[in-house]
Amino acid sequence: VTTALPFKVADLSLAEAGRHQLRLAEHEMPGLMALREEFGPSRPLAGARIAGSLHMTVQTAVLIETLVALGAQVRWASCNIFSTQNEAAAAVAVGPTGTPGAPAGVPVFAWKGETLEDYWWCTTQIFDWSVEAAAAGADWTGPNMILDDGGDATLLVHKGREFELVGAVPDAEPGDSHEWRVILDTLRASLATDPGRWTRIAEDIRGVTEETTTGVHRLYELEKSGDLLFPAINVNDSVTKSKFDNKYGIRHSLPDGLNRATDVLIGGKVAFVAGYGDVGKGAAEALRGQGARVIVSEIDPINALQAAMDGFQVARIESVLDEADIFVSGTGNQNVITVEHLLGMKHLAIVANVGHFDDEIDMAGLEALSGAEKVEIKPQVHEWRMPNGRSVLILSEGRLMNLGNATGHPSFVMSNSFTNQVLAQLELFAEDYPLGVHVLPKLLDEKVARLHLDALGVELTTLTPEQSAYLGVPVNGPFKSDHYRY
Ligand code: NAI
Repeated sequence: VTTALPFKVADLSLAEAGRHQLRLAEHEMPGLMALREEFGPSRPLAGARIAGSLHMTVQTAVLIETLVALGAQVRWASCNIFSTQNEAAAAVAVGPTGTPGAPAGVPVFAWKGETLEDYWWCTTQIFDWSVEAAAAGADWTGPNMILDDGGDATLLVHKGREFELVGAVPDAEPGDSHEWRVILDTLRASLATDPGRWTRIAEDIRGVTEETTTGVHRLYELEKSGDLLFPAINVNDSVTKSKFDNKYGIRHSLPDGLNRATDVLIGGKVAFVAGYGDVGKGAAEALRGQGARVIVSEIDPINALQAAMDGFQVARIESVLDEADIFVSGTGNQNVITVEHLLGMKHLAIVANVGHFDDEIDMAGLEALSGAEKVEIKPQVHEWRMPNGRSVLILSEGRLMNLGNATGHPSFVMSNSFTNQVLAQLELFAEDYPLGVHVLPKLLDEKVARLHLDALGVELTTLTPEQSAYLGVPVNGPFKSDHYRY
């Protein structure tokens, strides 16, 4: 019996508009297009069945079609309820040939504004390969690769297998979040219909490639506790990912999200940025570039010192609550902006999160606050009227606002990230990596950068043989040791 749907998107009639955007994005994604040229003819991903969970944007559409061009079969969901661009999802579902359901179309399950129930349903859909199995006359029913962003797809497999081993899904505890209850319900239903499903899927998975800091953090935890079920490549810590996407991507998409959401003039305002990692650095630079006076907070003395030397005031949030007009969190931590903080802010302060999950701002606490009232200004922009008579503006309900209120990072920077993703998929699919969390070899990281130089007119200097011998560095790289920090 097959339960798998061919795809589920908001509106297929958007496919043509999406295709136009994809064409333009391809022009801005030279790394992915170079991989299509290099590997398209040999199709090294033939036989790869990739379950993808990553923001279903125009840029991701170019990634998906690159994986397909390299021979892979793909099923896709978004990794955030607000980040899908409906026209991109439609274009991918329809495929480049323009016929819905034609072989070129990819089963994508994503639309902007999913409920959490929708979201976890979509995530389970990327693991149901019964249609593809029936077409191939194969005995597998699931994927053999995961491409993840934030680790939700990986979490589902690990939790599903864990509960199958004990033969039961635990009851939710009183303090558990709504989302965790949805995950438990999803897995309870799966255990009732097919009690060996996630165990089989876990056995078939060759590996996962993980996009972001938060997902990578989850993988290292699994490795440390001995619970990791398959090898992983940490794409985030390729230099050409985190030092580019996280920083220059946010530098572009944070102000984009603020403008589209509120159109409040940033110049002259006081902006507060929690976290001065890669994302925080991009955020602080963008806000300063718009003329804001930026205050940064950090828990790490090294990053705090960096922020100070970059010219930012470094302060605790409590010290500047009544001063800042815009609050941005980008830490990957939880409860960075608490209800107490929200209550202390100026009237109509803007509160925005660009860290991966929605608990950086204590949204659950805010929803439980008696006397607080939520007024929708427009989708993904809410005025919360607080019991003290002041309001705060919360963007994207506390979720990634650069994707919820804008369209995420632009194509050129995502080409760097996604070229790493494709190389990581190629590595894990072709090689038998040992169980553990790995990063791509430096030479491949340098290759990603190389593929993006021509488009920017960069003239690279070549080492002379004497210089190469003097430094002990090969003329064609790798140029730096693994511990070099850029
Ligand atoms: P990172 O580890 O480089 O930086 C996070 C910084 O936050 C660290 O320096 C840490 O010391 C600091 N921090 C932790 N708790 C804090 C607290 N309570 N107060 C102040 N500072 C605190 O991580 P990165 O790469 O900057 O990523 C941050 C988050 O953004 C992650 O959740 C990541 O997944 C997400 N991300 C979001 C993107 C987007 O498009 N919105 C793009 C890339 C990453």
